[in-house]
Amino acid sequence: MSTPQVQREIARFVSRTPGSRALQQEAARYLPGGSSRTTAYFEPYPIFVDRGEGHYVYDVDGNRYLDFMLNATSLILGHAHPAIVGALQEQASRGTAFSAPTEAQIRLARLLCERLPSLDTVRFTNSGTEATLMALRAARAFTRKPKIAKFEGGYHGSHEYVSVSVRPPAARLDPAGPTALPEYPGQPPGVIAEVLVLPYNDLPRCARLLRQHREELACVLVEPVASAFGYLPARREFLVGLRELTAELGLLLIFDEVQSVRLAPGGAQEVLGVVPDLTCLGKTIGGGMPVGAFGGRAEVMALFDPTRGAPLAHAGTFNANPMTMVAGEATLRCLTPEVYARLGALGESLRQQLRALFARLQVPAQVTGIGSFFGIHFTAEAIVDYRSVLRGDRTLAQGLFVGLINEGILLQSSCAGALCTLTTAAEVEALVAAVERVMRRLRSP
Ligand SMILES: Cc1ncc(COP(=O)(O)O)c(C=O)c1O
Repeated sequence: MSTPQVQREIARFVSRTPGSRALQQEAARYLPGGSSRTTAYFEPYPIFVDRGEGHYVYDVDGNRYLDFMLNATSLILGHAHPAIVGALQEQASRGTAFSAPTEAQIRLARLLCERLPSLDTVRFTNSGTEATLMALRAARAFTRKPKIAKFEGGYHGSHEYVSVSVRPPAARLDPAGPTALPEYPGQPPGVIAEVLVLPYNDLPRCARLLRQHREELACVLVEPVASAFGYLPARREFLVGLRELTAELGLLLIFDEVQSVRLAPGGAQEVLGVVPDLTCLGKTIGGGMPVGAFGGRAEVMALFDPTRGAPLAHAGTFNANPMTMVAGEATLRCLTPEVYARLGALGESLRQQLRALFARLQVPAQVTGIGSFFGIHFTAEAIVDYRSVLRGDRTLAQGLFVGLINEGILLQSSCAGALCTLTTAAEVEALVAAVERVMRRLRSP
């Protein structure tokens, strides 16, 4: 359901982006709907990018955008950072991929193992999807049990077992609590049967369900900061409770830190003080190159050890390719504790300014987030889980998202985003001022 105000923003978007519209039409001849990435499409069509420089992206029509989308938060140093461009140029001239290890993979692995409390050892993949896929496989092989637990509304990539109850529509939700719902018709019932779906932030209910299914369960997969809920940090006592429960029941606790690793050198597990058995990583650790990683307790990761017969195979033509490794290393070397602290303070300032703005405008809204993450929800209700997110006003969110593009600012279409190391108080102010202008437009007849 759209409104005249949202239609007005869309019309303005269309008038500013004729080049993108033409490319969308061209793209649609060869790619379904012109798209190869569900999350990069929005109505009426996405901007087509010409280039990125620092905090900015330029579209093919010459419009400039202040980028808080940052390729799904992965570009923590902004676009085309000189340290990364230099590292990639140097590596490209020496070869981009080999069927053999390079020293670069040791350097990035060492940096990650030194920083993340849960990592004894780590393996690299090419995406976060593969990281959660392999972590679940490791947990099953280690515990010799088939079932996995995940949370309602939790996104962990696009492979089969995590594609359960990711975006269930309100009409299909059981009022009594989460159930395992397929994401597409024809999804094998056998997959659904092996996934236990839990309510986020509800420890008593999780405890009941986990105890009930303990005999078949291998692990609990959870984001300590729920990206799909506007970067909502889990309540600390909830995570502590999950840690204690999983340890007691003999299940592995897996943190999906594909996004939240950008919070601190040791990721959300450092910030929230809870150490899982396995951790999945991605996005920022690849410096803008395709990446994923999973790691954790040595005895679990030993399942992949080729010197001990490796009961678990994990191949991948581009695993630990040196382009990704050097870009990731260059990124992590720029990310000192001081840099994370500055980003966190700036993020807190943004969240406070947005809350004050919505209060002043008398718009019922919640601003979620932690550290350099933020999310905006149009609801008077506190955000605690998937269902509270779902009850937000999506039309208003769509209006803000498109309105901000018209203001030269990019957020994720869910009205969430992240800061990068180039963000200063000026960019935060620019974002808040633009949100105010768009909200006023969306409320005027
Ligand atoms: C929390 C989380 N896990 C996993 C993934 C999947 O990562 P990728 O897109 O690299 O496959 C994402 C991607 O957005 C994510 O946000």
